[in-house]
Amino acid sequence: MNLILGIESSCDETGTALYHGKRGLLAHALHTQAAMHGEYGGVVPELASRDHIRRVLPLIRAVTQKAGCALPDIDAIAYTQGPGLSGALLVGASIACALAYSLDIPAIPIHHMEGHLLSPLLSDPAPEFPFIALLVSGGHTQLIRVDGVGQYALLGETVDDAAGEAFDKSAKLLGLSYPGGPELARLAACGRPGLFRLPRPMLHSGDLDFSFSGLKTAVHTLARQHAPVARGGGIDQQTRADIAHATQEAIVDVLASKALAALKQTGLGQLVVAGGVGANQQLRARLNEAASERNFRVFYPELEFCTDNGAMIAFAGALRLQQQEPDKLGKGSLRAFHVKRGYRFDVKPRWDLQKINRNQ
Ligand code: KG4
Ligand code: ZN
Repeated sequence: MNLILGIESSCDETGTALYHGKRGLLAHALHTQAAMHGEYGGVVPELASRDHIRRVLPLIRAVTQKAGCALPDIDAIAYTQGPGLSGALLVGASIACALAYSLDIPAIPIHHMEGHLLSPLLSDPAPEFPFIALLVSGGHTQLIRVDGVGQYALLGETVDDAAGEAFDKSAKLLGLSYPGGPELARLAACGRPGLFRLPRPMLHSGDLDFSFSGLKTAVHTLARQHAPVARGGGIDQQTRADIAHATQEAIVDVLASKALAALKQTGLGQLVVAGGVGANQQLRARLNEAASERNFRVFYPELEFCTDNGAMIAFAGALRLQQQEPDKLGKGSLRAFHVKRGYRFDVKPRWDLQKINRNQ
């Protein structure tokens, strides 16, 4: 089992990749739908599904061409089974299972957050088990103790909005385009520190949970205070940058402080940061500083693998495959599996990471 094709289609990015068990990542390709959804200020699920249908086969062709191989060279296909938008997931799942069936090779369902969580292992140096993972994406904010592939213990998570959602919603309130996280970070770089202070909900809650929904209300109030209707409703650019700066500071403060608390609580010395918000430079700077002060190591995926991509799914598939008994994976086994299941496959739009071993 050497060459794994990965397919990611959980939200608004179609990603494909080829990962080789010995040679590493051979090729990856991505199409982002950001511009298409941008017109609507957020992801439109039906448009997302249709675009995945348009993109997925050309993107599979692109990675096989880049890697100089053909479909029959592929030994298994990993795909994102959930969580995510059901229509979008169905596109990746159906293509993966149909191709796997026709090639008579295994199809491996992958949990999207497991892909994120393992993605720093694609880099060199890579963390070693066990480590703490701070998973920060558009839909999740979780602290997880990772003892090995498939061994994930949830230490804390958001009780309402995710960190990425807080970035995106605040960005929208400041008139920035979708997806707002990177836009807000860019604007924050021009902001003056200390002009505004926004709340840091649950900072001192004594546990490892997060809450971000109050932040957008505070940003909303601040933005309105500085854009009185009587003056035409516009906030000047410097004030928007100052508010963006304060917003980023509040989110980064809470994320960093809880991540440090998780390291202290478990006594572990390695932190992995994954998911789209892991691309945030301010968060990285804060954690790097803390790592050198407190003597722990922090790992990030390559910037291009922080946000959704096919490489993390192919890689997670390769690691999952290594755990299987070899005799269950031979050619022909998949056909038997499909016949038994009546050619059914399913997706899991809502899926708890801790339940993955029980579900598979
Ligand atoms: O992991 P991801 O690509 O998709 C999900 O699984 O949700 O994460 C997307 C999230 C969005 O909320 C986006 O605004 C945020 O990650 N994001 C950032 C940055 N880059 C992406 N947030 C803050 N700073 C960034 N540089
Ligand atoms: Zn993601």
